[in-house]
Amino acid sequence: MADSLEFIDLRSDTVTKPSLEMRSAMARAEVGDDVYSDDPTVNSLEERVAELFGKEASLFTPSGSLANQLSIRSLVSPGEELICETNSHIARAELGAATFSGITTRTWLAERGLLNASQVLDLAKPDSGPYLVSTTAIAIENTHNFGGGSIQPIEEIALLSRQARELGLFLHLDGARIWNAHVASGISLLEYGKYFETISVCLSKGLGAPVGSLMISNKERISSARVWRKRYGAGMRQVGILAAAGHYALDHNISRLADDHIKAKKLAQVCASAAPSTINPDFVETNIVGLDLSKANVSALEFASSAKQKGLLVSALGKSYLRLVTHMDITDEANERAGAILKELLERAFVLK
Ligand SMILES: Cc1ncc(COP(=O)(O)O)c(C=O)c1O
Repeated sequence: MADSLEFIDLRSDTVTKPSLEMRSAMARAEVGDDVYSDDPTVNSLEERVAELFGKEASLFTPSGSLANQLSIRSLVSPGEELICETNSHIARAELGAATFSGITTRTWLAERGLLNASQVLDLAKPDSGPYLVSTTAIAIENTHNFGGGSIQPIEEIALLSRQARELGLFLHLDGARIWNAHVASGISLLEYGKYFETISVCLSKGLGAPVGSLMISNKERISSARVWRKRYGAGMRQVGILAAAGHYALDHNISRLADDHIKAKKLAQVCASAAPSTINPDFVETNIVGLDLSKANVSALEFASSAKQKGLLVSALGKSYLRLVTHMDITDEANERAGAILKELLERAFVLK
């Protein structure tokens, strides 16, 4: 068993630790009571992030889940529905939180989570009268986490946004990793911002901050979300120390995401050459590598446990689905070692099949 200090941790990009420089920016932050809107560092972060996406306002939250939930409750009334992809974070990983707002969800299933506007519009049923639940909003995840970090096609987003607006439907973007989509595709944050009524973004994933997400929208929705954030018990006080980490992350850690994408691609290539059925490296567009072990002689859980014995942490997210996520705390050398461990285990896992 490897010493715990030596683990190469590819479970998620949430495992990064704040760098010394980030910690020192946090220590120097000017602070105030944010429930009174008195924290200058939070206020400037909220203004900055809203501007990045061409929106009027934003609200700092402790988690991406809360930013998503405040967003969708600002769009959908109790008894109405939000539609989203089957494997989206909102549908699968927020533990039914939309029920707190009386929101029901229906889902569409898409290969790699990739958006097809007409598939979504076929599902949407606005103004359904007294017989069916009325659709009010649509949520899109970009990049798509369980889809293997896939980037949503911008033409489909544009088409969906145009047609949804004609039908009076709202669009929400779960942009926990929109930074990765922006860096990999070259599409500006302002362009992404145009298509959505509400957006959530996370600073605590690839950008390396210890905590922090934002809901972004117009002034009216943000001021109502500020009340709901407090109601949910997430009004925070001298939280400029966390917002300072967010400013640092935006200043220093966006363009470097390209390195994480290169590392993920390398891991995918190693895995594909050891066991071609596990992954198509062409599908690895950002920092997430999803491995299909359905043709292996071990389950994802067994594979993850053998990897741990060798000092590599990965996530088993399904019976045969393994996720690896590259991030700023993975050096080139650690990435190579991870590749060597994966190669050895994959060759063994496919030997008798
Ligand atoms: C796509 C996506 N959205 C939202 C979240 C929620 O973020 P948090 O863990 O900060 O609640 C995550 C977390 O991994 C995510 O992957």
